[in-house]
Amino acid sequence: MVLLLTRDDVISVLQMKDCINVLEKAFTELAEGSAVLPLRIGIKPPEGLSLYMPAYLPGMNALACKVVTVYKNNPTKHNMPTTIGKVLLQDSETGNVISIMDGGYLTAVRTGAVSGLATKYLAREEEGQVAGIFGAGVQAKMQLWGVSEARNISKAIVFDKFPEASEKFAAEMEEKLGIPIEVARSADDMLQADIICTATSSPDPIFDGSKVKEGAHINGIGSHTPNARELDTTIVKRSMFIADSKDGCLSEAGDIMIPIQNGELTEDHIHAELGEIVTGRKTGRTSKEQITLFKSNGLAIQDAATAKLVYDMAKEKGIGKEIDI
Ligand SMILES: NC(=O)c1ccc[n+]([C@@H]2O[C@H](COP(=O)([O-])OP(=O)(O)OC[C@H]3O[C@@H](n4cnc5c(N)ncnc54)[C@H](O)[C@@H]3O)[C@@H](O)[C@H]2O)c1
Repeated sequence: MVLLLTRDDVISVLQMKDCINVLEKAFTELAEGSAVLPLRIGIKPPEGLSLYMPAYLPGMNALACKVVTVYKNNPTKHNMPTTIGKVLLQDSETGNVISIMDGGYLTAVRTGAVSGLATKYLAREEEGQVAGIFGAGVQAKMQLWGVSEARNISKAIVFDKFPEASEKFAAEMEEKLGIPIEVARSADDMLQADIICTATSSPDPIFDGSKVKEGAHINGIGSHTPNARELDTTIVKRSMFIADSKDGCLSEAGDIMIPIQNGELTEDHIHAELGEIVTGRKTGRTSKEQITLFKSNGLAIQDAATAKLVYDMAKEKGIGKEIDI
């Protein structure tokens, strides 16, 4: 039997805290070498891009493949979203597909959760820190949820290039998380934050890295192609740089690839992968003044671990529809 899980089914069982916990285990498996994580495969039909993201985490018994498509004309031509994702979860003992689930909400939560995990290990530990969220879209909301599970956040500030999007974000997330949220008038106003998340669709740097305060922690999740970056060279240079995957950052992240191409940095600037910090193989923050920067491009192990969590919870609660294919 195959368990079909809709977006609403996924929303009803998936909690940020649980997701951070399973990602901690997934990144541990990655650092220990037991995770299987082939590079994602891309196919370009004339109308768009189709990506296949497989992963296997033996310790968690999670074997899955996410199919994500980016079809820019979908909204106007077909009244459908630009980005659509589905996850196929398999039984690793038999290989049989045991679940097909919506991947949109799952992707946003797992992307918020990896920032939560990085924040847990890299941000300063004081109570009552200020979170600054760049972007007010789908991912941005989950970024605030992720960091607020990792640290006690006294206030959040949001900045989107469309002020009405920021206002909407503030109203929705204040109600969801119970944290006061201010709308910033400029990117500069954001740089008083202790924990900064960049979750925009901008291809160019979104703030002046020289103005970020000492001791900040940054989660950069938005850009993940070689020619796009949200972060300028100054902030990358000022920071201890932690990658979700070193190979991923050196092949997909303009934030680090562009300064390397310009001769401003070398690959050695990547201090560690997140899994190495989580397992204690490498040391994270060494002082309260240091700026730490986590760069996320998104890994299929995050999808596999989260899909297994969703499946287990749905089975336990009797959610979804079983069908015999
Ligand atoms: N790292 C990962 O695992 C991962 C996963 C999913 C999506 N993403 C990326 O995250 C980014 C955001 O995705 P989304 O689904 O939230 O998109 P979205 O379109 O819902 O939101 C993006 C927001 O960024 C705002 N924006 C654009 N330029 C800006 C600027 N200079 N300053 C402030 N705000 C600006 C837009 O107005 C928009 O509200 C995309 O680049 C996407 O590819 C990364």
